Amino acid sequence: MSVFDLAGRALRHMPAEAAHKLTIRALKYGLGPVHTGADDQVLRTTIGALSLPNPIGLAAGFDKNAEAGGAMIRAGFGWVECGTVTPLPQVGNARPRLFRLVEDEAVINRMGFNNAGLAQFKRNFARQKLTGGMLGANIGANKDSKDRIGDYILGLEALWCLPDWFTINISSPNTPGLRELQGRDALQELLGRLMEARLRLTGKLASPPFFLKISPDITETQIDEIGNAACHYGLDGLIISNTSIARPDDLKSRHRHETGGLSGKPLFTRSTALLQQFHQATEGKILLVGVGGITSGKDAYGKIRAGASAVQLYTALALQGPSLISKIKRELAQILHANGFTSVTDAVGRH
Ligand SMILES: Cc1cc2nc3c(=O)[nH]c(=O)nc-3n(C[C@H](O)[C@H](O)[C@H](O)COP(=O)(O)O)c2cc1C
Repeated sequence: MSVFDLAGRALRHMPAEAAHKLTIRALKYGLGPVHTGADDQVLRTTIGALSLPNPIGLAAGFDKNAEAGGAMIRAGFGWVECGTVTPLPQVGNARPRLFRLVEDEAVINRMGFNNAGLAQFKRNFARQKLTGGMLGANIGANKDSKDRIGDYILGLEALWCLPDWFTINISSPNTPGLRELQGRDALQELLGRLMEARLRLTGKLASPPFFLKISPDITETQIDEIGNAACHYGLDGLIISNTSIARPDDLKSRHRHETGGLSGKPLFTRSTALLQQFHQATEGKILLVGVGGITSGKDAYGKIRAGASAVQLYTALALQGPSLISKIKRELAQILHANGFTSVTDAVGRH
């Protein structure tokens, strides 16, 4: 066990949000783990135009203000998504708003897009030093915004040319009404305006990929609607999924009835099934990223076989500490070799 895992154990005795704040501060000042040695070649992969040393990504929410993305790539992630950032700074919901469900290997959060706003995010992001991995920006809308779609456009305009990709987050359950942007008409308006902005901002240059992050709580009809709209408007990918407002019956923790989004192990089955449904619905026309409940290389492999070109995680890292990153990469490489795959790409959607 590394000194960082020991520190992680100590942090897990602190209230969850205070522990997270301390972690980000330590990472910002260079006190994070450093992954040494190259990743197994079998893990090298691409998602669209992005070339990754490994497919294991850090999901949005860990580094909301782009203070520690570079440090998390040095810790071993192949790609790190910073944000969600909103145009204006926002304090988020009242505390407590982050709960560990230790017995369930899960978390419930109702943070509510607490973040320092686009201007600070941009300064921080520009300072990140990268060593091989990719760094993206996840953008959102302010709670009190009069034009939520306009907020996403502001995000694109402010950060254009900085991140390796943009994720449009319309699936947080903690900003009232945000998930309504997943409805058919609202989604068409959103994607139409985003693609217009993309064309205007790009000029003759290539645009970074645009991913749309969706909720696990959508209906069957919405799977088709979102899949069709994504293909029609030329989105590059879908990130499946954000946290869930559903509560499986077998949760044990005393915090299980807290309001907010559930993440971690209990989300794995639902988010992976949804990923597979999207893979079928979109017939491989659009790339998919699998997120939700990954705790092992086997879980990452499960998402890849269900159709994910790459994966992301957050909760298991918060509960288990940073040695999890190497463990997942080692296990995934072993499974890929054992099943005769020479690359991650070969295994995508091969169920
Ligand atoms: C404390 C916390 C904060 C989060 N904040 C965001 C966020 O700001 N934007 C976002 O797109 N997803 C956010 N998420 C969702 C994660 O990115 C991820 O989609 C979800 O937790 C499922 O993955 P996991 O089970 O590996 O954690 C957050 C999750 C947690 C636990």
